[in-house]
Amino acid sequence: MRLPAPNYHPPFNITRASHAVWSVRDLDASEAFYTQVLGLVVTARENGRLYLRGLEEVCHHSMVLTRRGGAASCDRIGLRVFSEDDLDKAHSFFTGRGLPCAFAEIPHQGRTLHVSDPLGTAMELCAAMPLAERKLTRFHEHLGGCAQRFDHYQLLLPDLETAGEFYTAIGFRLSEYMVDASERLMALFVQRKGNPHDIAMMLGPGPRIHHAAYTTVDVHTLIRACDVAGSLGYGRSVERGPQRHGPGHALFVYFRDPDGHRVELFNTHYLTLDIEHQPARWDPSNMDRNLPWGLPAQRSWYEEATVFAGVAVREPAFKPNPVTLERYLAERS
Ligand SMILES: [Fe+2]
Repeated sequence: MRLPAPNYHPPFNITRASHAVWSVRDLDASEAFYTQVLGLVVTARENGRLYLRGLEEVCHHSMVLTRRGGAASCDRIGLRVFSEDDLDKAHSFFTGRGLPCAFAEIPHQGRTLHVSDPLGTAMELCAAMPLAERKLTRFHEHLGGCAQRFDHYQLLLPDLETAGEFYTAIGFRLSEYMVDASERLMALFVQRKGNPHDIAMMLGPGPRIHHAAYTTVDVHTLIRACDVAGSLGYGRSVERGPQRHGPGHALFVYFRDPDGHRVELFNTHYLTLDIEHQPARWDPSNMDRNLPWGLPAQRSWYEEATVFAGVAVREPAFKPNPVTLERYLAERS
């Protein structure tokens, strides 16, 4: 197994994972969940779309919910590039690789480039959004989990070798990875903004989006999100946690929104900016390291995820065998 080599001088400059765009059936239900449980702020609600941002975010949105019937799906995941110039460079790169690539007019975003990675993951790149008020010190307006800022998303992908080559080619750097006993890649964590990941990629049927993640203030606000979920009747939406990750080390909790999209709230990450940083290797079967305490995730956390609208899901060459709660309990008995 050979890890993808870093490219410190990529063809265009991606700065961070910035937003997600997914469908919901009922904007009222979604607004209640995202504002009261997670603590996101509404920037705008218009034309069947709800635009949300975290408390420290000044850019117009980091979550766009589009009202649409049928099965829930993700339209696109969003990435920021540093400047307008980078959009043109990205256009050349994707065109040169024969990958889907077209400029689009998107409300409340500067010039936007719609692209797909080699596995079909639908993404959009933009360099700017209109500004909104930073709510960081409007303490009397803070609700639920006090979500601060969009941090990353996790994808399920059927081919991590192809994904690793592609994402390192466009400048993402590997921070952590998982390899099984047969030296097969099970997970890649890649970053642009200098913390453990902007995109986490797990081997699995895909492309699908497993979750979007926001930072919260501390342990207290993490627990408070769970308490508010419970008191408002969303208790069963708490799918996993609160617990501590092995990879990334953060304290976390995962929620399922009213349409089943998964959102993570977590407290902290560490710095990965310096060039001599070496990626950390994890063994997915080592539960003591991957999950320092508590019980493993229920099966739904491993198997369920949001599809990309109109994008076929492909099976990986082999199926991961995760340590689910059911397997963990069976092996202990
Ligand atoms: Fe995450």
